Amino acid sequence: MTTKKVTIVGAGNTGATMAQILGATGLADVVLLDIVEGLPQGKALDIAEAQPWIGSSSKILGTNNWTDSADSDVIVVTSGVARKPGMTREDLLGTNAGIVRSVVSEATSQSPNAILVIFANPMDAMCHVALDTCNWDPTRVVGQGGMLDTARYRTFISMETGASVQDVSAWVLGGHTEATMVPLVSNATVGGVPLTSLLPQKKIQALVERTKGGGAEIVGLLKTGSAFVAPAVATIEMVKSILLNENRLLPACALLDGQFGGIKDAYVGVPLLLGSDGIASIYDMPVSNEELDAIQAAGEAVKELVSVTP
Ligand code: 2OP
Repeated sequence: MTTKKVTIVGAGNTGATMAQILGATGLADVVLLDIVEGLPQGKALDIAEAQPWIGSSSKILGTNNWTDSADSDVIVVTSGVARKPGMTREDLLGTNAGIVRSVVSEATSQSPNAILVIFANPMDAMCHVALDTCNWDPTRVVGQGGMLDTARYRTFISMETGASVQDVSAWVLGGHTEATMVPLVSNATVGGVPLTSLLPQKKIQALVERTKGGGAEIVGLLKTGSAFVAPAVATIEMVKSILLNENRLLPACALLDGQFGGIKDAYVGVPLLLGSDGIASIYDMPVSNEELDAIQAAGEAVKELVSVTP
């Protein structure tokens, strides 16, 4: 039994993997919630039965009841359908908006002091749906997208340069859609050395394009469902920063209020400090003019998507 509690909504591959990874840290008790009877219970029991050898005291509870989620410190919303090959994240808009609305309203009434981490796609638009539903301070509603996209970008840079991923520093800002993702080239470095001095422009462009299509690449390979291990790890890094009040500077999705050249009232992926109260601050990091244009376009695109959300 720990003093912190995290509810993960949706016991699909991603939600269950998050429960497993977070459970192994021992940082919080985990509630895995889903509407499908037996699914969260079965997955949670399997994860709980791994705890003795993992060496973690976190309790893992699978449930269909919202009351079990009461007084959570963090709620992660993974529920919704995933893409099939050929679909964009935007294609999920109608279906997932309805699901996110009902989940957020239940979750926030049970845990009025929680931080909401939105994972469901199209994630940037789902952050707006979540915020409109709960009406909380926007600092308490944050989206996961950039963490995963950044991990993919760093992985591809590592594969191309041969340097360990640990020495690759790079950021993906903008939206979590292929059309709006902005892998930054201007400040990508390997061990402090600018990427632009290590690889020719054409190679870098190929890494940028592969990053933008990173989710679709896995959907295409798996044929059913989408990526879940890297997405789960990326999300739990955010949850850890909240639980431990670490104030990690992470790429994630926040409601902007004039940052990056005046973007307002749009959820966009930016560098932000994440702590126990949610988004502590947003870093208006310098980027090239071309990158700034692309980040601003991401802000316009999410507003457009929100305006057509049923
Ligand atoms: C991805 O990019 C699930 O959106 C997620 O794989």
